Amino acid sequence: MKTWTALRICQSKGQQKLACLTAYDCITAQMLDAAGVPLILVGDSLGMTRLGYATTLPVTVDQIIHHSAAVAHGARTALVVADMPFLSYQTSISDGILNAGRMLKEGGAGAVKIEGGAFRSELVRALVANGIPVMGHIGLTPQSIHQLGGYKVQGRETSDADRLCADAQALVEAGVFSVVLECIPAALAARITAEISVPTIGIGAGPHCDGQVLVVDDMLGLNDQFQPSFVKRYAEAGALMRRAFAAYVQDVQNGTFPGSEHGYDARK
Ligand code: KIV
Repeated sequence: MKTWTALRICQSKGQQKLACLTAYDCITAQMLDAAGVPLILVGDSLGMTRLGYATTLPVTVDQIIHHSAAVAHGARTALVVADMPFLSYQTSISDGILNAGRMLKEGGAGAVKIEGGAFRSELVRALVANGIPVMGHIGLTPQSIHQLGGYKVQGRETSDADRLCADAQALVEAGVFSVVLECIPAALAARITAEISVPTIGIGAGPHCDGQVLVVDDMLGLNDQFQPSFVKRYAEAGALMRRAFAAYVQDVQNGTFPGSEHGYDARK
């Protein structure tokens, strides 16, 4: 199978819908790759899904690099996109280039994702000029959660909707190969998708985007405390794992594991 690159993702607009997922480790990346997922995002959702943080804000560049390298080992054909965590690109263009470069150099990623609209154009231009493909991310941008006042749908007011359209267009002009649209009305996502020349990847943005992305834990039902309305659960893996752990504890406590078939004889 041909390898997915940022260029190929960009050129796929109008050709095929892109089914993207997050991953944080090698085995999950291998499974996604085998399932034909073209783009694996090492999201800063890592902070909540794997590191126990309440928000994405504490996630560091080194943590994303660590997990991106594991994902890159498992992904044979998918494009690995490393999320640029909070304060890794907001401080200056040179910080952005250095940290994004580390994602490719040490994290094995093929592209990075940054949050923000038109005001990120200068950074996007600088990254692309230095050979670093960039995915944009507008709408609900979790790194601005304190400014936004919570995890709320964005772009419901006409002026906000117009601003998001202009943001998407500015990012495309700056050189992004795709744009994540998070938690915006479906009609607005359809408008942006029709207006821009690169694929839109929706999450909580309705069915009209060029692709969809979900956090892998959410679609697998790993966390029974968290089920946003835009997530479809494709498995109840959390319940399955909890049952398996409880059964193991029982077996060890009552001596039914290990059985003779799980041990070694003295002779070969
Ligand atoms: O961090 C993440 O997983 C993301 C996706 C939800 C788009 O940014």
